[in-house]
Amino acid sequence: MKIDITEFLEADYNEAILLWKQIEEVGLDDADSFENTCSFLKRNQGMSFVARHEGKMIGAVLCGHDGRRGYLHHLAVLPEYRGNGIGSNLVEKSLSALSQAGIMKCNIFLFASNVKGKAFWEKTGWFGYNNLELMYRRIKHKNDID
Ligand SMILES: CC(C)(COP(=O)(O)OP(=O)(O)OC[C@H]1O[C@@H](n2cnc3c(N)ncnc32)[C@H](O)[C@@H]1OP(=O)(O)O)[C@@H](O)C(=O)NCCC(=O)NCCS
Repeated sequence: MKIDITEFLEADYNEAILLWKQIEEVGLDDADSFENTCSFLKRNQGMSFVARHEGKMIGAVLCGHDGRRGYLHHLAVLPEYRGNGIGSNLVEKSLSALSQAGIMKCNIFLFASNVKGKAFWEKTGWFGYNNLELMYRRIKHKNDID
């Protein structure tokens, strides 16, 4: 099976959203708007990738860094294409781009319920944090309606 892996470009956005919507382990929110995704891609050029088979998008990953650490988001491969090294290939391409940018550690966010996803990460050399919790706070925007 010939799989093409190419840089995730603005033009890939619509197909990627359709792909991610089919994957229950991927959570989409306002951060995934076209504008935000384009901004992310622009700030992190050459780090995010899509996989295609005969032109059809079958996998994708977003990757970026903040100057200190790298982050992967929304890694997904369509179920019928899994187990062929596509997921790990996408990840390795992103890690290689981070390495070239001098970033020495990458983090991922994983739903606690995603047991299979966790097995993939552990199999491919990733470690969980023992004493770390993720927290967030929403930030008001000038256009928000109270
Ligand atoms: C996680 C995911 C991207 C893996 O994609 P994939 O293309 O099947 O992964 P690969 O074929 O590259 O697998 C790499 C290795 O991990 C192993 N692996 C993959 N999924 C696994 C699982 N569920 N349990 C255990 N090992 C797994 C593979 O066997 C392979 O090992 P090998 O090299 O010894 O054969 C895919 O299962 C997926 O899209 N899952 C739903 C979305 C998701 O959970 N994403 C992560 C959210 S952070």
